[in-house]
Amino acid sequence: MIANPSSLASGTARALTGKVRVPGDKSLSHRALMLGAVAVGRTRIAGLLEGEDVLGTAEALRALGVDIARGDDGRWTVHGVGVSGLAEPDTVLDLGNSGTGARLLMGLVAAHPFTRHFTGDVSLRRRPMARVIEPLIRIGAQFIAREGSRLPLAVVGARDPLPTVYRLPVASAQVKSAVLLAGLNAPGETSVIEPAPTRDHSERLLRHFGARVEVTDDAGGRHITLTGQPELIAADLTVPSDPSSAAFPVVAALIVPNSELSIAGVGVNPLRAGLFDTLLEMGADLGFANRRVEGGEPVADLTARTSALKGVTVPAERAPRMIDEYPILAVAAAFASGRTVMHGLGELRVKESDRLAAIAEGLAACGVTVAVEGDTLIVEGSGRPPAGGAAIAARLDHRIAMSFLVLGLAARAPTRIDDGATIDTSFPGFVALMNGIGAAIAPPPS
Ligand code: S3P
Repeated sequence: MIANPSSLASGTARALTGKVRVPGDKSLSHRALMLGAVAVGRTRIAGLLEGEDVLGTAEALRALGVDIARGDDGRWTVHGVGVSGLAEPDTVLDLGNSGTGARLLMGLVAAHPFTRHFTGDVSLRRRPMARVIEPLIRIGAQFIAREGSRLPLAVVGARDPLPTVYRLPVASAQVKSAVLLAGLNAPGETSVIEPAPTRDHSERLLRHFGARVEVTDDAGGRHITLTGQPELIAADLTVPSDPSSAAFPVVAALIVPNSELSIAGVGVNPLRAGLFDTLLEMGADLGFANRRVEGGEPVADLTARTSALKGVTVPAERAPRMIDEYPILAVAAAFASGRTVMHGLGELRVKESDRLAAIAEGLAACGVTVAVEGDTLIVEGSGRPPAGGAAIAARLDHRIAMSFLVLGLAARAPTRIDDGATIDTSFPGFVALMNGIGAAIAPPPS
């Protein structure tokens, strides 16, 4: 594994071929550590993502009194302290670039009667926290945050937490999970109602550790109900490869001529697989073999071959199932024939960067005709490779950095990003993996 140097350029690749495995799922890795931390006993986790975001969560849990270690075999061991066993840290919890780490941990500590201070990097300190603060106040926690409910903030956990019924104002798996994690330490039933189903990793893993979680659907949305104060029992698990990371080599193989790539053991949870559905609609030659269940999650071996893509319309309802994949989908759309219209992208404005702006400005700089109309992104594909040749500001956003490096692999001129360091938050070894299958990504000539 090589560290990503800060500035990177990608030039034309002739073909991408080989069989690879991408790192473990980020969402599941955060949750596996957190639930292992509040289960009773020793949980062993195989396939944990060793990216900076997840390592930050491990470090924060250690500060909360949990013993977490990596074994020589690459498996991680968490010695859980039980649902009410987290301690008061004597330091500030710094979650770096990770919204998932920060928001889920705020939920986990909200029903423990101590004070914790949270902070993060420049990107995370800009992101809205009101969406988790509001429901956690109902449970009894108190918050002192910066103007605009931003980090750094202090959480005073509830001494007598109350169960709640919370209807999510936005479809967010992070908010849902924060409320459920807080509900672990509240008596009675804590319910979250989602306007549209979001990734259900928390529900699956809570059950894996022995919690009772019921899910029902009605006209008002999806109701997820957790029975509080369970005795969670340590339970080993294997984290599948991250579909959001697989998305980058997959799209690269679709747009670079003469490519054929296999990626083993990728998570294909239907609530994460919106990108793959969309690429199939665009005419992508994508295969899914050996479908199986690993660690309670559906998994498959993927193949991707060079494809003539065509533009499609992606409905707003699909956004929660592929929310992190729009930057790389927009790159695929830039190589397609015809117009791709992506609706319902308001949430992209509050990710690691304002992704709607970052995608539109980056694609325009690469010679692509692109427009943002409200929450809709429109990319005009000319059916031939875009010019490329631009220097893109990655804005402390790993997915913007990787997306434009992928674009450069098949554009008419190399593409450059100003800072690739954040790629390590989610995809350590990205550059080495891509170069191993035939890409040409390297620090630009100075
Ligand atoms: C995540 C949920 C999504 C996603 C993020 C990971 C999770 O965020 O963008 O990368 O693990 O729950 P939102 O809940 O804000 O949509």
